[in-house]
Amino acid sequence: MTRVFSGVKPTGHLTLGNYLGAMRQWAGVDQHRADALFCIVDLHALTVAHDPARVRRLSRQSASLLLAAGLDPELCTVFVQSHVDEHARLSYLLECVATDGEMRRMIQYKEKAVRERERGGSVRLSLLTYPVLMAADILAYGTEEVPVGDDQAQHVELARDLAVRFNQRYGHTFVVPRATLPTVAARVMNLQEPTSKMGKSDDTGPGIVYLLDEPEVVRKKVMRAVTDSGRDVVYDRQERPGLANLLEILAACTGGNPAALSGVYESYGSLKKDTAEAVVEVLRPLQKKHKELCADPGYVEGVLREGAERAREMARPTVDAAYRAIGLLPPVPETVVSAVR
Ligand code: TYM
Repeated sequence: MTRVFSGVKPTGHLTLGNYLGAMRQWAGVDQHRADALFCIVDLHALTVAHDPARVRRLSRQSASLLLAAGLDPELCTVFVQSHVDEHARLSYLLECVATDGEMRRMIQYKEKAVRERERGGSVRLSLLTYPVLMAADILAYGTEEVPVGDDQAQHVELARDLAVRFNQRYGHTFVVPRATLPTVAARVMNLQEPTSKMGKSDDTGPGIVYLLDEPEVVRKKVMRAVTDSGRDVVYDRQERPGLANLLEILAACTGGNPAALSGVYESYGSLKKDTAEAVVEVLRPLQKKHKELCADPGYVEGVLREGAERAREMARPTVDAAYRAIGLLPPVPETVVSAVR
């Protein structure tokens, strides 16, 4: 069975972008056809200025939202990254394979470093090395496929490079993974700034649809989406990004095709109205399930505990093999020590 791994970072409330770009595929397709792991990557949330209590809160919320979106612990493994030491263990080895130049070329690093400096903060070293930890997340599990949105493709490419380099230098240890992207809505854009990604850590609330937004709030945000100055409804990502974004969201929510849908609408108003309703309908069952799960926190904790146990068992052999391959002495087993005594 194909091994699939992916994750979400608890740095903000999960958005429609997270759902359409990633979570929907995980729940609808990946968990049914693959041996899949989905991780709340909390260590990654420490790479920018953070409030500890908020990270804890968002980690719990992300877990219940993943389950509310349809991840079934009978079919897949859901867990929290920091509960499995293998991620951090492997990350250090991969730092010894990655280069400084490679890290500095990462687009997300460049963008986020600028943002942190603008906010008057310093850039944490972990922000630079973050993609190596992400590579460790992936490689520890012998992952073949990484279902992600378009913004993570460069990071998965780095994981590939590191796997190949490690295997060449130290002998075959890692499976070389590849990113799988959804055909529509691989990059959902901010409704107010359709040339920027809809990101959960951004500050521009009106342009971001959060998974737990009330229907009325969703409608308002979609109806106020920035569109372009033209009048006709055409699908053109370059020239008409605001309109293209709405068409992609509608297509992703209804299972349609954005170019075909553009022919159906004569006005921006009716496109916005249908898009708003489609989003509300997609979020309705998720929000209902989330409410039920919030009433039963013990269930979610149990899922995470079992998930971490399973994940640990899966990751340990590969990470141990990497430690040996790179030249580290294996710990001497207790039985040998007592025989020598
Ligand atoms: P994160 O938490 O930013 O996003 C989680 C997933 O949602 C996708 N996504 C989007 N897709 C389409 N449109 C958008 N506007 C949008 N915003 C987010 C992301 O592409 C991602 O698939 N570094 C990762 C988390 C991570 C990870 C990993 C992923 C850490 N280790 C290992 C896969 C494998 C991140 O910050 O995702």
